[in-house]
Amino acid sequence: MNPIFPSILSTNFFDLEEKLCQFQDKGIEFIHLDVMDGHFVDNISFGPSVGKAIKAKFPFQIDAHLMVSNPDKAIPSFIASDSDWISIHIESESRTRENLLAIKNANKKAGLVLNPDTPLESIFPFISYADYILLMSVFPGYGGQQFIDATTEKIFLLKKRIQQQGLNCLIQVDGGINADNVGMIKEAGADLFVIGTYLYNSDNISQTIETVLSKINGV
Ligand code: DX5
Ligand code: ZN
Repeated sequence: MNPIFPSILSTNFFDLEEKLCQFQDKGIEFIHLDVMDGHFVDNISFGPSVGKAIKAKFPFQIDAHLMVSNPDKAIPSFIASDSDWISIHIESESRTRENLLAIKNANKKAGLVLNPDTPLESIFPFISYADYILLMSVFPGYGGQQFIDATTEKIFLLKKRIQQQGLNCLIQVDGGINADNVGMIKEAGADLFVIGTYLYNSDNISQTIETVLSKINGV
């Protein structure tokens, strides 16, 4: 699986199709959809119809990151619009276990997301219900923030926990990732890397994807 999950949040939407073509050419498999409801986070972004529109034109799978206060309500529409992976925040104080199971029962991959200031231990009771854990390395709401260094220790501890429990749960990291820090994030134990701003700020997205991939692969 290609470990780079481009987020489209920070792209110029008039260029979206061109950017998606470049992602496809570089072997990207997943597009990360940052869904914001203006309540759980201040920002408002987009909903399931964007994922559906992307899937109608491209062979990508959709990874929907739900930054919403009420995932109970949002999950069914993302299932209906055929998002492939769906992640919910532990801070949304919803029925976490039930929601993860609802996602899995629909044959989708279920993710649990943790904000930078939420203790890692809070997700421990739910790891066995999740296909992936998304560790936020910035505060959710906006692209273009700086990677919070304390995330590295969290990745390391979570990886250890997953291995100790013999689970098959992936670790995804989201926010402020670039070619300079991605190697260290991988080294700490991350499997999947959500990258937005760094790709769109580069003059040559294809080259940047190659560079980031080579850092992930340690070459
Ligand atoms: C922040 C979002 C991220 C973000 C990507 O709320 O979850 O996906 O846009 O991070 P950057 O733009 O820093 O790569
Ligand atoms: Zn995200």
